This record gives sequence, C-alpha cells and structure tokens, in this order.
Amino acid sequence: MLVIIKKDYEKLSKEAAKLVADRLKKKPNLVLGLATGSTPLGLYKELSRMHKYEGLDFSKVTTFNLDEYVGIPPSHDQSYHYFMQQNFFKNVNLDPRYIHVPQGMAKDVDQFCNWYEDRIKSFGGIDLQILGIGSNGHIAFNEPGSSLGSRTRIKTLTPATRKDNKRFFKKNEEVPKYAITMGVGTIMDAKELLLVASGKGKAEAIHQSVEGPLTAMCPASIIQMHKEAFVIVDKDAASKLQGTYVDSWEPITIK
Ligand code: GLP
Repeated sequence: MLVIIKKDYEKLSKEAAKLVADRLKKKPNLVLGLATGSTPLGLYKELSRMHKYEGLDFSKVTTFNLDEYVGIPPSHDQSYHYFMQQNFFKNVNLDPRYIHVPQGMAKDVDQFCNWYEDRIKSFGGIDLQILGIGSNGHIAFNEPGSSLGSRTRIKTLTPATRKDNKRFFKKNEEVPKYAITMGVGTIMDAKELLLVASGKGKAEAIHQSVEGPLTAMCPASIIQMHKEAFVIVDKDAASKLQGTYVDSWEPITIK
C-alpha cells in the first residue's frame, strides 16, 4: 500500500486523476471501478477537464460503479445513477453500453447481484477501483461488520451512514435503508485500488484503515492486504497518521 499525502483537496484530486489517466493511456480499454460520494468529485472534474482539453479518451473504457440505493429510481436526483450522470458520464466519451451501475430497482436483487459479479468477470475483472471511505471506515456500502470476503449483495445501512447521508434528502424517512453494493471481496479482486479521502472527518477512519488492526469493524482496513493499493489523502485526512508517507504515486528515481 502506498499512502500519498497532498496539501489540500485540489491537489489530492489532481494526483488521483493523474494516476487514472496514466493507467488509461497505458490500457485504452481499462475496466474502471467508480465510486460516488463528495470526495471523488474533484477527481471526476479533473478527468472531465483532461477529456475536454487534453483528449483523454474514454471510448473503450468499461465502468462498474460500487453501489446504489435500493428503491430509488435512476431518475431520482439522489440516486447514484443520477450522480454519476451529472458529475462524470455526461462530461466524457464513455460508451453507454459499457457503463454499469447496480440496479437499485431490480425485481430480483440476488439474481442481479450474481449477474453483476459475472459481468465484471466477463470483462476480465476491474483494473483500477476508485474508492471513497465512510467516517466509520466503510467502503462502498460495506458497513462495519461486513464479511471481508463478501461479494455483491444487498446491505442494510447503519444509523451512522444514514445520518451522514441525511443532508442529501429532504426528510429523514426518505434516506434509504438498503443498498446494493460490491462486496469487500469483489473490491479486493480489483488489480489496483485508489482510495481518496479528504477532511478531518475522515482522519480517524484513515488512521484505522492504514495503521490500525485488520478488522471487519473497519472494512477499509482490508486494503492493507492489497498488493497494489494507493491511498491519496489531504493533510486533514492524514492528521492522525503516525507513519511517514510520500507525496506522489510516481516511482522514486534514484540519481
Ligand atoms: C457513501 C458511499 C461510499 C463513499 C461514502 C463517503 O457511503 N457509498 O462509497 O465512500 O459515501 O462519502 P463522502 O466522500 O461524501 O464522504
């Protein structure tokens, strides 16, 4: 795992986008795992800018989103479908046939989850998975206590996550109770992981994930076991880290 600390949110977003762009240039048909939440917004903005002004090409890319709320249609302005459309998909030249977001309205959720897993495999697996982190250490919607080997399935959201998400909904009752999410095992199968976190509210979760014990109570701690994981954080999110870390993912060249 490589932990990279940047001065602020803008710099962390640019650093993360540079890594995605690098992988995309090396493999134009990249299979990219995508995350929602406010943290990757800067990364999506920078990738959109690179597409518009630098010709970064997404035409051969396949995407798989981590999660989606159950019971909210794609047209709902708080659905992850809508979020991705507004903040990324509409800005780049992805082929809609190769965009995948879990179907929160699926009639048979189990069948859908199996299909999603098979579909990921049929594209040769995810090359690079972008991740955010919940303040309780969740990744995607794998809440504390999630099995570290879990696959795509339906999960009940914890009161803490529902509270964090309340700001996006008009009424408390509107905050979804369930989500379809890739499992921790699904995420760990990705060839590379890129976790981004910003702000003091994430400092404890980052400390526990990077330096704490490996535990299902902090699902993000599993990334310590991944061979190619990048954690890019700003100074605030890094404020509880005790180790010494670098400021770029690019390999160090010794002169
Ligand atoms: C939701 C998403 C996660 C995301 C988390 C943090 O729970 N399912 O994938 O990492 O929010 O969001 P934010 O970046 O807004 O703090």
